[in-house]
Amino acid sequence: MNRLDFQHYMFRFALRGAYAAPIGQPNDILDVGCGTGRWALEMANLFPQANVIGADIATPPVDEKPESQHRRTENYVFVEMNVLDGLKFADASFDFTHQRLMMGGIPANRWQGVVNDLARVTRPRGWVELVEAQPMDGAPALDKLKAWQIQLTAKRGIDIMIGSKIGALLQNAGLQNVQFYTLRLPIGAYGGSWASWLSKTTSR
Ligand SMILES: C[S@@+](CC[C@H](N)C(=O)[O-])C[C@H]1O[C@@H](n2cnc3c(N)ncnc32)[C@H](O)[C@@H]1O
Repeated sequence: MNRLDFQHYMFRFALRGAYAAPIGQPNDILDVGCGTGRWALEMANLFPQANVIGADIATPPVDEKPESQHRRTENYVFVEMNVLDGLKFADASFDFTHQRLMMGGIPANRWQGVVNDLARVTRPRGWVELVEAQPMDGAPALDKLKAWQIQLTAKRGIDIMIGSKIGALLQNAGLQNVQFYTLRLPIGAYGGSWASWLSKTTSR
């Protein structure tokens, strides 16, 4: 939980904000695979007029205890849900649908179906935002590590390089105005203090 929260702050810093889409003032926001709920809670605070739902297969400890609900803002609710079973929301329920760092949770052959479902629950003129990470090319040792990661995760049906395909997945889902960005984030002391912090979130 702490690692995910820490990683959230690192991502927000690197991406210069919690989101990139020009969402305006959304009324309904969904975060799929919300983890600790940190991102969704920040959105609930940024958009107090919005209803924000965080959905995840695992309930964060704080949401298991009704007495700790006071720590959550009123316009946020957590829902336990397996995205692979289909999202339990009606079509066109959200203005902004967000999903981040799910490459380990969605088998390669299920990705398109999941993205189609994200598109389904999003309203016309709404936005779907996907954020994924993947290993980049680097020095020989890093390249070897990357090759091992690809091999190992492929054995479990996971495509750890899915990040490079999310633009195509969004397009195939029939979405319009698809934009795809790659941001290279150094990890380790060579990249300065920020990259050195990032190494602490990825090395466990
Ligand atoms: C790496 S964490 C990312 C959490 C959050 N999106 C973030 O960026 O901080 C991946 C999350 O996906 C959730 N997850 C994995 N498989 C899932 C599934 N089939 N349905 C819903 N959530 C899933 C995990 O429980 C975990 O909270």
